[in-house]
Amino acid sequence: MSDNNFYITTPIYYVNDVPHIGHAYTSLVCDVIARFMKINGKEVKYLTGTDEHGQKVEKSALNNNLSPEEFTDKMSISFKNLLKALNIANSDFIRTTEERHKMGVKAFWEKLQENGDIYISNYSGWYSIRDEAFYNKSELTPEGLAPTGAPVEWVEEPSYFFALSKWQDRLLEFYEKNPDFIKPKSRRNEVVSFVKNGLTDLSISRTSFKWGIPVAGNPEHVIYVWLDALTNYISALGYPNETNDYKTFWPADVHVVGKDILRFHAVYWPAFLMSAGIPTPKSIFAHGWWTNEGQKISKSVGNVIDPFKLIDDFGLDQVRYFLVREVIFGNDGNYVRENLIQRNNSELSNKIGNLMQRTCSFIFKNCQERIPNVTKEFVDKMYQSEFFIKLQDMIKDSIIQMENYNINAVLDNIINVTEQSNIYIDHEAPWTLKNSAPQKMNEVLYRIVETLRYIAILMQPFTPDSAAKMLDQLNVPKNNRNLMHLNQEFAIISSNKINQPYPIFPRLETEY
Ligand code: MSP
Repeated sequence: MSDNNFYITTPIYYVNDVPHIGHAYTSLVCDVIARFMKINGKEVKYLTGTDEHGQKVEKSALNNNLSPEEFTDKMSISFKNLLKALNIANSDFIRTTEERHKMGVKAFWEKLQENGDIYISNYSGWYSIRDEAFYNKSELTPEGLAPTGAPVEWVEEPSYFFALSKWQDRLLEFYEKNPDFIKPKSRRNEVVSFVKNGLTDLSISRTSFKWGIPVAGNPEHVIYVWLDALTNYISALGYPNETNDYKTFWPADVHVVGKDILRFHAVYWPAFLMSAGIPTPKSIFAHGWWTNEGQKISKSVGNVIDPFKLIDDFGLDQVRYFLVREVIFGNDGNYVRENLIQRNNSELSNKIGNLMQRTCSFIFKNCQERIPNVTKEFVDKMYQSEFFIKLQDMIKDSIIQMENYNINAVLDNIINVTEQSNIYIDHEAPWTLKNSAPQKMNEVLYRIVETLRYIAILMQPFTPDSAAKMLDQLNVPKNNRNLMHLNQEFAIISSNKINQPYPIFPRLETEY
């Protein structure tokens, strides 16, 4: 795999219920990273999809008086609709009920079996349908619940096992050799100590229900939904066939997951892959959880946040910006309606929108709707000024930050440059220069417009529609909107026409 390819995945979402803010968040951060990598010239594959097998989904189908097939067909559409509503630029969407996936899972199972890591025995222990996870007695709370708070039930049935315990030492060695495998760093210790505490073999088939992929040769058993689901990351690339996609994109650069499902991705998945002789992904990034006004989000409390409603109420880019800006990627986030409004008004409207609107309106009225005329010498000098040297450094820094998934640091950079430019325009007051020093006025405006080109290009991953409007307003050609165009060679051209300005980041009223 060449360095120019980038493969990013979301978890595949359970279709037992409609999408909520957690699903929206995971898809959105992956979209921001994927779009950034694209404007940085990478060939990007962004995979998402739905996890449709297992007891939880089967139960929901029954509760809805639908067959699991009808139910999953219907529910997966709502997840596809969410992607559309959020303007997610995924390159594929996999459903675990698709043939291509089932074929991948069967082949993967066979590989584990061939390598001597699967055996049949009996499972007896605790199982949580909500988490689709097995728990030891020692993990349960004093009230007898799963550590996640989910109810558990006693299960005793014949089961195939994966010899996970055999992989304990190799996993520990792997974490040691790949200190960046689990991100952020704080999550790494959690996983390492879980593995150090001892791994028991993992039950990987169930016999008490039918909704899953049957085990070849013993169809009484369906494959454990997590073994089924994790395989999506390779089945979507064509595994077991050595397709171009597979060769180009595996191993994945990053699987982005919520902190609750880190164990499945950072312990079970690499162990399965090692057993199958397939390279492990380069990293797993665990993000935090959203609460609603400080409270854990749950259906029973009735405080689930509907992402479609958020978008209707506040606007797409406003919601995208808030969700990514409000929390440091990796930390927990708290949804507070007032904070969404505040973020939008103080940063998108008052900083970026204001700089754009006042500069473009002034140019439109006072410079014959054209980018102000400056000399080549001026542009040379401007590009050697401290401000522009710092601007170039800021781009380099933003690339490094994004490569380390410090998404917020990139937004800090953008806001910082915008603030400086707002101070600059106030200080230079081009509106006072029109008669007394028209050339100076042109130069001040030109510097701001060129900075706005930087801001708009960098904002594309975060607020794609609004950034496109900014670039359209400035008439920046569509094929000149990548990071490689952020230099003097592609500087905005004097006397080019700009388009009629209009507010791109309107303020949100508090009485929403
Ligand atoms: N189907 C499994 C994943 C299989 S991946 C091979 C699953 N699905 S899920 O629909 O329950 O969760 C999907 C993602 O949403 C997880 O990463 C989870 O952490 C995330 N979130 C669910 N609720 C959340 C919040 N309240 N806040 C942030 N993310 C949350 O797990």
